[in-house]
Amino acid sequence: MIGFLDALARPVLFRLDPEDAHEWAIRAFKILQILPRLPAPPDDPRLAVFAFGLDFPNPLGLAAGFDKNGEVIDAILRLGFGFTEVGTITPLAHGGQSRPRLFRLTRDEAVINRLGFPSQGHAAVHARLALRAQKPGIVGINLDANKVSGDRPADYAWGIEIFADVADYFAINVSSPNTPGLRDLQRADALDDLLARVLAARDIATERFGRKPVLLKIAPDLTLAELDEIIYRARTRKIDGLIVSNTTVSRPTTLRDPSANEPGGLSGQPLFALSTQMLAAAYLRTENQFPLIGVGGVDSAETAVAKIEAGASLVQLYTSFVFKGLELAGEVKRGLVRLLAQNSYPRLAGATGAAAADWASGKLNADNFR
Ligand SMILES: Cc1cc2nc3c(=O)[nH]c(=O)nc-3n(C[C@H](O)[C@H](O)[C@H](O)COP(=O)(O)O)c2cc1C
Repeated sequence: MIGFLDALARPVLFRLDPEDAHEWAIRAFKILQILPRLPAPPDDPRLAVFAFGLDFPNPLGLAAGFDKNGEVIDAILRLGFGFTEVGTITPLAHGGQSRPRLFRLTRDEAVINRLGFPSQGHAAVHARLALRAQKPGIVGINLDANKVSGDRPADYAWGIEIFADVADYFAINVSSPNTPGLRDLQRADALDDLLARVLAARDIATERFGRKPVLLKIAPDLTLAELDEIIYRARTRKIDGLIVSNTTVSRPTTLRDPSANEPGGLSGQPLFALSTQMLAAAYLRTENQFPLIGVGGVDSAETAVAKIEAGASLVQLYTSFVFKGLELAGEVKRGLVRLLAQNSYPRLAGATGAAAADWASGKLNADNFR
C-alpha cells in the first residue's frame, strides 16, 4: 500500500520546488501517522544493536533535517526506521535563510541545502514531543545555538535542560555549514568548553530524567589533525558517541547537475566516500571508547554495511529517502539480513569496524560500491 501511494506521489513531488515538496511530504506523513494500521512484524533480532545504553530494534535511523520540528516521528518509525533524530532545534524560533535554499541534484542523487536552521524553537517542539512522550520508539534531539547568540554553549545546555524529559539521546550539532562560525566550535578549546558545559547540563538533568547520552555531530571536511583534537577532547570529556558526518562544503569533480555550484552543504551519493573515510578515521582513533553513527550517502543495504564495516554501530540516511522513497527502510533491512548470511556475521554488531583500516587508508573507496 505504501509503495503504491509512493509510486503515485513521487513523480508529482519531483515536479515541485524541493522545499514545497518537503512541506507536502510532511503533510502526507501527518495523515499517515493517524491512520489505523496492523502491528508491524518485529525486526529480525540479528539487526538489533545496543549502543550508548539504548536498545535499537535495527540500526537504521532517519538523520536530522527531515523532521526538524518533531511533527512526524510516528510516521517515520512506522516506515521501519529503528530511530529518528528530530531537529536541528534552535532555542528561539528562526526562519532560516531566504529561498531558494534547497536544491535537488537529480543527476547526482544529491541535495545541496543552505536552509540555515529554520526551527519552530524549543518551546513549540518540546510541547509537541511531550504529547507523545509515552509512545515507543527511539527519538534523538539535535540541538544548535541561536544564529545570533552571545553564548553558544549556553544555548546548547539550555536545549538539554528543556528536552531531557523527552529525548532518548542528544546530538550536538557543530557541523552544519550554513551558520557562520558554527563549525569553529569543532576547534579544540571551544569544543572543550562546549562539551564541559553540555555534559554538566546533562548530569544535572540525569537526577530527574535518567542519563541521556550526548553525541557530537561532526563535519566530513575536517583535516586529520582537527579530527585528532576532536577525538582527544571527546574521549577526555567522555561523550557517549559521535555522528559522522554532516553535509560537505566540498564539490567532487564527478558532479554533473547544473545546480552543483550552489553554495551550501552537499549530501547524498557524492558524500558517501568522503564521510565513510572520515568515519573510519574516527573509529580507529576512538579505540572502542564510544560508538559511532555513520551517515552520508547511504542508499542501500550495501552502503549501510559499508558504514558499519568502516566503524559505525548505527547508520542514518536522509537524501536517499528523497530519491528512493518510502519503502527504502524496509528494503535496506531486508538487504542487511541477506548480507549478514552471506558474510557469516551472526549479528550486525559483529561487523563494526571490520574494514576500518581499508577505508582509512583509501584501499576501499566509492568505486567498490557503484
Ligand atoms: C535538506 C537537509 C537538511 C538538513 N538539516 C540538518 C539539520 O538541521 N541538522 C543536522 O544536523 N543535519 C542536517 N542535515 C544533514 C543530514 O542529517 C545528514 O548528516 C547529511 O545529509 C548526510 O546524510 P545523507 O547523505 O544520507 O543525506 C540536513 C540534510 C539535508 C539534505
